Amino acid sequence: MKNYDEASRAAANIISAQIILKPNCVLGLATGSSPLGIYRQLVEWHKKGDLDFSEVKTINLDEYCGLSPESNDSYRYYMNHNLFSQININLVNTHVPNGMEKDAVKACNNYDEIIESYGGTDLQLLGIGKDGHIGFNEPSDSFSKGTHKVALLDSTINANKRFFEKIEDVPRSAYTMGIKHIMQAKKLLLVVSGTEKAEILKKALYGSIKPSVPASVLQYHNDLTVIGDNEALALL
Ligand code: F6R
Repeated sequence: MKNYDEASRAAANIISAQIILKPNCVLGLATGSSPLGIYRQLVEWHKKGDLDFSEVKTINLDEYCGLSPESNDSYRYYMNHNLFSQININLVNTHVPNGMEKDAVKACNNYDEIIESYGGTDLQLLGIGKDGHIGFNEPSDSFSKGTHKVALLDSTINANKRFFEKIEDVPRSAYTMGIKHIMQAKKLLLVVSGTEKAEILKKALYGSIKPSVPASVLQYHNDLTVIGDNEALALL
């Protein structure tokens, strides 16, 4: 795709098609800068009367530990602000891990129960970190399974500091959906933009499959769509 806007529109088309085909579908959603253009497009189509979210369910990938839904920096706030408050979704049907739950086992088990009660996601939207993370599954020695608590790597803290006033405000840990549930999505949609993602995207899609590049596991999925702008796709 020529640029971010074109890529966002193409990705929004896929999500829109999913909702039209299955009005009560379960969408796996992501935060960060990559999906913002998609959400803007979905809101626009909804406002025109072309897209109905009344039966849609959503499960987000991750949430920072210690941030409340009211905090501007929490992913729950991001989702409410950028999408949910502007469409006709029932908030009860939207799920983000509970960052305020101090008991990690409880928070993670609850989230896995939600994911499993829906039978997983029909379509999971993903971005990719410069170190190859998906959700907050950071490079490690093994692929994670269910929802778990992660200590964020310095590279991720640095990458995300642009969303915060100062780097000290970036939480050091997060709850994230695990690789198992990401891979159990019926369809995966990876959106990527910018030169800074070109190298990791090539590694993830064509390099060896290993937990030190978490996104490389996506090569095992049989319904993965990758949408990017020319800059991100330059090395493919
Ligand atoms: C966010 C998430 C992360 C981001 C990744 C890329 O919910 O799960 O994996 O997708 O950090 O972030 P951006 O899009 O800001 O470059």
